[in-house]
Amino acid sequence: MTKKLIAPSLLAADFGNLQRDIELVNNSDADWFHIDIMDGVFVPNISYGMPVLEAISQHATKPLDVHLMIIEPDRYIKRFAKLGAAHLTVHFETCTHLHRSLQLIKAEGMKTGVAINPHTNVSLLKDVICDIDIVLLMSVNPGFGGQNFIENTFHKIKQLKDLISQNNAGTLIEVDGGVTDENALQLAQAGADVLVAGSFVFKSKNQLETIKNLKQLANS
Ligand code: DX5
Ligand code: ZN
Repeated sequence: MTKKLIAPSLLAADFGNLQRDIELVNNSDADWFHIDIMDGVFVPNISYGMPVLEAISQHATKPLDVHLMIIEPDRYIKRFAKLGAAHLTVHFETCTHLHRSLQLIKAEGMKTGVAINPHTNVSLLKDVICDIDIVLLMSVNPGFGGQNFIENTFHKIKQLKDLISQNNAGTLIEVDGGVTDENALQLAQAGADVLVAGSFVFKSKNQLETIKNLKQLANS
């Protein structure tokens, strides 16, 4: 079985000590940095943007998994590539020409990601699944950290797994929102390949231990 991956979300980091929290993730069992970019239009919150990503890029030693919660993402694909994004995930709900967006991301040498909101049906990805390296299933409504996990996500993981295998695609399944030590094992067993965790990691007392435990749980 391929290893399950952990991607701490810096949205829950201490922004006054961002470099410290980046080094912590560098030195942990985590696999990727999850970076949430919000525009205050697609989602009712604004997080951080290009200058902060540039600073993160300078210190991070693991792949930057950039999750765009912004309208018209095509306008910024080249810039995110220059800033060091390894994976660029756009929201299905923001892309009128999703196939084109995916080709643009690929052309910039990044892995392609598509995120879907809790209400968006997995079947809508059928005709582009072979062009997607990572499908990010939102397990909360995007916009904020610290929300409760939506249980229907388990059902969506199963549907997505079926869609991926029916098409012989190599797509990874990433789950984002409300991930804790209470659902990590079950998510991994259901078929999730990557678990994003923000609050659960950064609000914990021993963050290195928390990441280690999540990784062990997901791979047990
Ligand atoms: C929410 C973001 C998530 C968020 C997860 O819109 O996409 O990545 O940081 O935070 P937690 O793990 O606290 O639910
Ligand atoms: Zn995210």
